Amino acid sequence: MVVKNICCLGAGYVGGPTCSVIALKCPEIKVTVVDKSKERIAQWNSDKLPIYEPGLDEVVKACRGKNLFFSDDCNAAILEADLIFISVNTPTKTFGNGKGRAPDLKFVEGAARMIADIAQSNKIVVEKSTVPVNAAESIMKILKANQRPGVSYQILSNPEFLAEGTAINDLLNADRVLIGGEESPAGEAAIEELCQIYEHWIPRKKILTTNTWSSELSKLAANAMLAQRISSINSLSAVCEATGADITEVARAVGLDSRIGPKFLQADLFQLTGFGGSCFQKDILNLVYICECLNLPQQAAYWQSVIDMNEHQKHRFTAKVIESLFNTVSGKKIGILGFAFKKNTGDTRESAAIYVAKTLLDEGATISIYDPKVEDAQIYEDLKYVGVSSERIASHVSLFRDAYTATKECHAIVICTEWDEFITLDYEQIYDQMMKPAHIFDGRKILDHNNLLRIGFHVETIGSRL
Ligand code: NAD
Ligand code: UGA
Repeated sequence: MVVKNICCLGAGYVGGPTCSVIALKCPEIKVTVVDKSKERIAQWNSDKLPIYEPGLDEVVKACRGKNLFFSDDCNAAILEADLIFISVNTPTKTFGNGKGRAPDLKFVEGAARMIADIAQSNKIVVEKSTVPVNAAESIMKILKANQRPGVSYQILSNPEFLAEGTAINDLLNADRVLIGGEESPAGEAAIEELCQIYEHWIPRKKILTTNTWSSELSKLAANAMLAQRISSINSLSAVCEATGADITEVARAVGLDSRIGPKFLQADLFQLTGFGGSCFQKDILNLVYICECLNLPQQAAYWQSVIDMNEHQKHRFTAKVIESLFNTVSGKKIGILGFAFKKNTGDTRESAAIYVAKTLLDEGATISIYDPKVEDAQIYEDLKYVGVSSERIASHVSLFRDAYTATKECHAIVICTEWDEFITLDYEQIYDQMMKPAHIFDGRKILDHNNLLRIGFHVETIGSRL
């Protein structure tokens, strides 16, 4: 079989960009991205895509309506597909067995059942969502138990390693593509089909093939090890403050060791407020849960400590903000610059800004928020989700369209996201409009602290004494 039709279940941060790039690079293949959310599909078909990702608009414009389609007709897309990506969400369970740790696989299972119900011809089903080890086996069981006569399935694991904000570049220039499959002639043939799709733009030597379980575990391991680096450097930031060392200098010195490397230790990328994003915490919790289920308590505790250190860091940062403002923020106005979990995305999932805002509101502060890409409705939803009442939002939260009005008459500014535009703001003008003493908390270590001190700001950061 040569794949001519691809269907992707889930038009989210992964399904949308991944399939847009596949469509761009494989003009002879028809790619249909479907979602059960009609609203999301309508946005993909509009001029304002549902997610902000540098370079995505151009790719979608080049292919949409030619060989790239966004549709809510899941049945039709599944029927005609030779290969189906499952790119649905796998959030941490909020109830029942494994609550707060295990991933909720109801959407993956729902997708598998949908395929089994509809498919009338052979399909390669590719698990793109991040799942626990052995999930492919569960998908296969569901498909086999509901198989129509004459229909056969191959399940592949093909985890996605893109990071938000750089998704298009990550997809076009992937460090590696990982494909896991069954160790049988049929499994190998399916792996080969998927390899051929990626080979349109990824050199063969960067396409790694493994057994299914290695592929599934490698995804969790990669995220756990990336997050571990951040927790390690954040733990050292406390040691820096206590000793007079500077975390920027330490990270540089450590990162220049080629065995360690500078990435994910970069001073200008530090999230001193703790790492955020939809996946690091979720995927480490997933790994912790797997270790616990396998009766490996030491291993579970080891990975749990990465999350614990991150929680501690978030707490440490907000505690520092409150302490520096004379131990009370009640009645004070505080400007939060940045609400997304990192720059170049409008995604706020697990953003440290939510925690900072909630804590400050609980302490009685009034907050003004500005983020260049996050929608107002998203900010309100996030605050409500963590328990801030509608009344408190109405009376204590204001959203702004620029950093200057957001910081007017504030007692303090907290930088929560490293947007480039925050680096070049006119801080003299901002200072003049603020209450005095004017404080600035640089949660990302992106600003010129000497300049801010010269202007008159009280500058606070983490990881060094100022
Ligand atoms: P998302 O929430 O943005 O998108 C998932 C979409 O799937 C939603 O729009 C939802 O409506 C849809 N969906 C759910 N069930 C469906 C079904 N049966 N049929 C059709 N559509 C269905 O999630 P995401 O951020 O794209 O993540 C998807 C998966 O990829 C997760 O497992 C995640 O861990 C993994 N991942 C995410 C990233 C990232 O940067 N966001 C990177 C690598 C891997
Ligand atoms: C991360 C991984 O980098 C991707 O490889 C992976 O595919 C993805 O998770 C996933 O599985 O969802 P993402 O969360 O989009 O990607 O973004 P990152 O750049 O990894 O940033 C995550 C968090 O760590 C952000 O809050 C960021 O500010 C923080 N971070 C990153 C730091 O604090 N310091 C760093 O040096 C780098």
